[in-house]
Amino acid sequence: MSVATECANEAEDANLVYNHVCARVSSLDMEMIRAIPPGGNWKNIPPDIVNKSARLRQIRQSGGRTTYYGRLCDDMPSYTISTYFNRPGNGAFIHPTQNRLISQREAARFQSFLDSYRFLGSFSSIFKQIGNAVPPLLARAAGALFKPGRTVDLFAGAGGLSEGLRLSGHSIVAAAEINPNMCATYSLNHPSSEVLQVDITDGQGFIKLTECIENALSGKTLQLLAAGPPCQGFSIAGKWTHTDPRNTLIFETMKLVERFQPENVLFENVPGIVSMLSGSVLQKVLEMLGSLGYRSDWFALRAEQYCVPQRRRRIFIVGSRKGVQPQRPEVLLSCEPRNHTMGTEEGADGLPLPVTVGEAISDLPPILSGFGAGVCRYDSDQVSSDYQRMMRGQLSLEGFLRYRHKQD
Ligand SMILES: C[S@@+](CC[C@H](N)C(=O)[O-])C[C@H]1O[C@@H](n2cnc3c(N)ncnc32)[C@H](O)[C@@H]1O
Repeated sequence: MSVATECANEAEDANLVYNHVCARVSSLDMEMIRAIPPGGNWKNIPPDIVNKSARLRQIRQSGGRTTYYGRLCDDMPSYTISTYFNRPGNGAFIHPTQNRLISQREAARFQSFLDSYRFLGSFSSIFKQIGNAVPPLLARAAGALFKPGRTVDLFAGAGGLSEGLRLSGHSIVAAAEINPNMCATYSLNHPSSEVLQVDITDGQGFIKLTECIENALSGKTLQLLAAGPPCQGFSIAGKWTHTDPRNTLIFETMKLVERFQPENVLFENVPGIVSMLSGSVLQKVLEMLGSLGYRSDWFALRAEQYCVPQRRRRIFIVGSRKGVQPQRPEVLLSCEPRNHTMGTEEGADGLPLPVTVGEAISDLPPILSGFGAGVCRYDSDQVSSDYQRMMRGQLSLEGFLRYRHKQD
């Protein structure tokens, strides 16, 4: 495969891939990266290199997570893509075979964004946009629980949650987000949605948002109110009390639920919300929904079971005004990676194996550490998996699943 080069005449070329750029690392980090094999981590770094780094010495003394300085492995799903995939020491972000960090496009593939989804804004913002997003294929599974219809997405970020809801048939009429870079990405990829750059906690901003939603609905029913607030938005630095949850982002969201009475609500958050303040935060959210007339529940989903090539757990809180308890979506793939000893093609649960790192990214052109291309051409001969075909827009999820289940 030839190294990616920047492509100039993008207008005429359908075979393009965007955001295939990776972060630069220091020469010491590069020494470490070279020492780590696929599937390895900081424990593989020899002592003479460890001794040159205060952070590594501290990790060695205190026993850091095995994902720190992790190198991905071609035959497993990736580890969780956080917003820090520009740093080798904060997770498993080293490319499985090249001596560099994963590119923004590779991270987007691990998050299940189609290649046609482009990220705009500053280089540093794009790491946050991708790392913070709900994987669209996971959001699609959650969205399929509800009758499709007019939807509003709050704290919309780069639009991962919206993208999944769109894929499950919902029509996103309005989205709200405070950050201009995120809004730029959102607008580009969701041209028919009204995107409002707004601070939802600001009084004037809240009024503008209410007007924006009213205009977008023009008297029609809001089918789904979706929201993925930052997790600290549920509890301001631990100051949440049972009686006074004001000023928290979730409280602002509840005001909108009360005002627009959507048929359904869907909140997404990190697993930490379940144990936050001994479970009282989650309990309070469910109680608030109950007092507004919603039958609600929550469940934890594993992204790799919904065709996302990444181990990522997320909590979904669901509520329905019709009183029908939304059920957890049926899993599509096993969460167990291939067992080399057994050589199995399926997990112990009888489901097909999860999508691996190699299946997700092996077709992308090689790039050098700290380089890549904002837009480059990919080689159509290099496609080697159904997941890659799906990401290139050549195969639907249904088609992908049929092949995975070997029904064709
Ligand atoms: C976890 S991210 C959401 C990711 C998004 N759901 C997705 O799937 O791409 C939370 C978002 O909330 C935004 N945000 C934080 N405080 C906000 C506020 N007061 N008003 C509006 N948006 C806010 C952040 O900028 C961030 O993009």
